[in-house]
Amino acid sequence: MLGTQWGDEGKGKVVDYLASDASMVVRFQGGNNAGHTIVFGGRKFKLHHIPSGILRGGIKAVIASGCVVDPLVLRKEIEELKERGIDTSPLVLSTRAHLILPIHRVMDAQEERLRDSSGGKRVGTTKRGIGPAYSDKASRVGLRVGELLDWERFQRLYLRHFEIKRRVIESYGESVDLDPEATLKELREAREVLLPFIQDHFPLVQDAVKRGENILLEGAQGTFLDIDWGTYPFVTSSSTVAGNACSGTGVGPKDISEIWGVVKAYTTRVGEGPFVTELHDEYGERLRVSGGEFGTTTGRPRRCGWLDMVMVRTAVRLSSIEHLAITKLDVLSGMGTLKVADYYLHNGKKLYYYPDSTYLLEEVEPHYVEMSSWDSTENITTPENLPRELKEYLRLIEKESGARISLISYGPSREETLVLYEGRKM
Ligand code: IMP
Repeated sequence: MLGTQWGDEGKGKVVDYLASDASMVVRFQGGNNAGHTIVFGGRKFKLHHIPSGILRGGIKAVIASGCVVDPLVLRKEIEELKERGIDTSPLVLSTRAHLILPIHRVMDAQEERLRDSSGGKRVGTTKRGIGPAYSDKASRVGLRVGELLDWERFQRLYLRHFEIKRRVIESYGESVDLDPEATLKELREAREVLLPFIQDHFPLVQDAVKRGENILLEGAQGTFLDIDWGTYPFVTSSSTVAGNACSGTGVGPKDISEIWGVVKAYTTRVGEGPFVTELHDEYGERLRVSGGEFGTTTGRPRRCGWLDMVMVRTAVRLSSIEHLAITKLDVLSGMGTLKVADYYLHNGKKLYYYPDSTYLLEEVEPHYVEMSSWDSTENITTPENLPRELKEYLRLIEKESGARISLISYGPSREETLVLYEGRKM
């Protein structure tokens, strides 16, 4: 299950819904840059690290090898869930995931400042230390969750890592306002909370595959924040496409039987970078307000625009997506005219796939199909009584993407969901 746009497609709700027949939800990349808001039993839950499947009860919720984890944040999340009466025992934290350390947060903010002051452009990161943690992983100086098992060794590695980073930061003429001993103490306290959840997740996942259980692999962010396929450099530091669901979890490609992509009925983006169908008028403002388009993690207002099928089509091909879940259809109710981009124009040439360069993206013009919106989604109970205009909107998405729409969502609660895929047992 992955996002087909720039994240915030509503994956949390869809995963939570589809998890009903799963024995395990496994997150394959990202860290606490992600945020899921889930309304469950009339209560609102905001999760960053923990897969949303945890709220289902009894389902294993695995933070797998492709993720980066801030132990201080995860500790808080676990404690909060416990306080609210949620059983956290199904949580599994992979020894292979990499740690986001306090210094990574400092570096994230500093790197953004450096990009700015050197005449470049900020990425607009979430400042959670994601980029620096993944950089350390690639540079082979990162610390993995498994190191927490042996505290004596962890301390040594942590202090050495801190010293390397301190020297690098100071060589940029910046200072480090962090006390390694104080942060070590905080990490030790977090470790106590985390220890029961830490294990090599590989045998667990492989045994479940062998038993033929339903396992849901959950991506974070979205296709166009992918480090290779997104709007580089305005991307996150991990790979968000289906291919990485395998290396990020240890499940082989042939063991994946269904690939789902989540599409918000319009487009949003937080942070900097190109956005071809962005709206700077009252329509954009309307989407932001009625869609509650403010970041779950940072609270930043999201940039809003029309649905872009060049993006969705590319995401579908890139990840072999067969099933689409369309979310937030309620937000488009009563909008009057709706627009959907079916291709871009560049110097008279039609582009059907997402271009490879941010420079080119600045020069393209979206070509729009105009449609009428529906009045309301309030009385939807069956696929048969969907408003005519909404059916047309869905048909257009299927035609332009080449994938089938298997689920639609038109409100935050579980009840405001309709499964259109007969083959799936719900
Ligand atoms: P980072 O992942 O914090 O390094 O941020 C890189 C880019 O990805 C920024 O534009 C962020 O706003 C964006 N981003 C990261 N995580 C999410 C997410 O979960 N939803 C939407 N945008 C995200």
